[in-house]
Amino acid sequence: MMMSRLSIYYRIVAMALFIIALLSFATGLIVWDSLDDIVSQQLQKRGAEIATHVALASGNYILMEDLYNLYELAAQTAASSEDVRYILIIDSNKRLLAHTFHGGIPKGLLDDMPDLTQQEISVFNSNEGVIHDIVVPIENGAVGYVRVGMTEEYTRNTINQHIRDVLLTVLVICVLAVFLSSRISALITKPIRNLAEVAESITRGNLVIRANIRERGEVGKLATAFNEMAASLIQASADKEVLVGELLAKEQMRDTLIAKLMTAQEDERKRISRELHDETSQALTSLMLTMRVLAEDAPNQEQKDALLLGRDVAANILREVRDLAIELRPPALDDLGLVAAIERYSEKFAIRHGLNIELNTSGQQTSVDGQIAVALYRIVQESLNNVVKHSGATTVSINITFLPDQIMVTIADNGRGISDSDLIRAQKENRLGLYGMRERVELLQGRLDIRQSLYGGAELSIAIPQYRPRKGESS
Ligand SMILES: Nc1ncnc2c1ncn2[C@@H]1O[C@H](COP(=O)(O)OP(=O)(O)O)[C@@H](O)[C@H]1O
Ligand SMILES: [Mg+2]
Repeated sequence: MMMSRLSIYYRIVAMALFIIALLSFATGLIVWDSLDDIVSQQLQKRGAEIATHVALASGNYILMEDLYNLYELAAQTAASSEDVRYILIIDSNKRLLAHTFHGGIPKGLLDDMPDLTQQEISVFNSNEGVIHDIVVPIENGAVGYVRVGMTEEYTRNTINQHIRDVLLTVLVICVLAVFLSSRISALITKPIRNLAEVAESITRGNLVIRANIRERGEVGKLATAFNEMAASLIQASADKEVLVGELLAKEQMRDTLIAKLMTAQEDERKRISRELHDETSQALTSLMLTMRVLAEDAPNQEQKDALLLGRDVAANILREVRDLAIELRPPALDDLGLVAAIERYSEKFAIRHGLNIELNTSGQQTSVDGQIAVALYRIVQESLNNVVKHSGATTVSINITFLPDQIMVTIADNGRGISDSDLIRAQKENRLGLYGMRERVELLQGRLDIRQSLYGGAELSIAIPQYRPRKGESS
């Protein structure tokens, strides 16, 4: 896990170091182990030779109890070899005749020596290190024994010296290995590092940069793939720009189209409304007048009743035509302004649908740009229709707020509210009421929010900036 955080360079160096250290440790262990065995064997072999030599030479001295020569023999033999720690010459009664210790005999060394007929070797630890004790009987023990103590210390020192040399060499090799592997890994990782730099540069948005392709193998293939990728990125981003441009142009066209459609629709409604008011209403009025005159001059009651009935029918039609004309384009919107038009509409709406509608205004009331006034009026109309159609509300509160830099209209009801799933379903079913409101508002740089009202139902909130009439226009 640690490894994955290191760069390739350090990974290679660390790997080389690890392998060399492992190898030298293993070699050291094997050498140490085999040397240990050899040291013991060699030491015991020489000990046995020395003991045998002393045994052969001491037989007669023991028999003659020539202690001086026994001592000389032991001392000279011991002096001739650095490995010999002590030599003991013992007679058949286990009496110590000669020894090479300058002080006293170490405690316990002469304890219970068994009767031996053959050479015997034992190994024990002393305060001077490991001692190999070799006992050689003289004439099968009938004359006595020679004991030689061989110390490992001298050989060990020599071996340790050698091991120190080996360790030093390993150290030098390790340093060399680090140097070499760092050179090698720098060589191996250089093209990869170059590629990484190119990749970073591309990520930062520099798409014209290209990787150097000098290598042949995998790195070369990688570099080629990189360059192709950068080239296709350039192509893709160019394609994307063209697409975005087209999309923006289409969006603009769509906005223009919607704006034109709305204006055309309003103009058409206005025209029909005026036609109904001016032409149709006038015609109906004169028809009613004519019928009344005719009724007054009717020759009999039957004809008079028929004419009066006809006149009543015409009067009903006239009322409906007037309502229709107002519905199509309320003259109040043009004559009295937005607030009055909404007030009239909501009063009628409340009566028609048995709703309780409260209208409040706040802020300094001023005239509103014609297009914005029409949009807000239509939105209030659609919202009130939605309340009746979907909410089951009993009360609606309409607030119109005039601020210096924006006009806000909220329509809040106490119905069941609009959930996200309602909106998703409406979109799937291509219902355009709310969608159309939002489009209208966004065309006027405003925003429309749908949230929960204080009364628990739905609240639509519309804010439109710069709502005052532009110069040369009045509303
Ligand atoms: N005041 C409201 N209260 C509850 N639900 C509403 C309200 N207004 C709109 N909705 C929900 O939002 C949906 C979308 O409304 P709209 O876009 O006007 O489409 P439509 O009126 O044709 O269904 C409606 O179908 C209805 O589920
Ligand atoms: Mg609707």
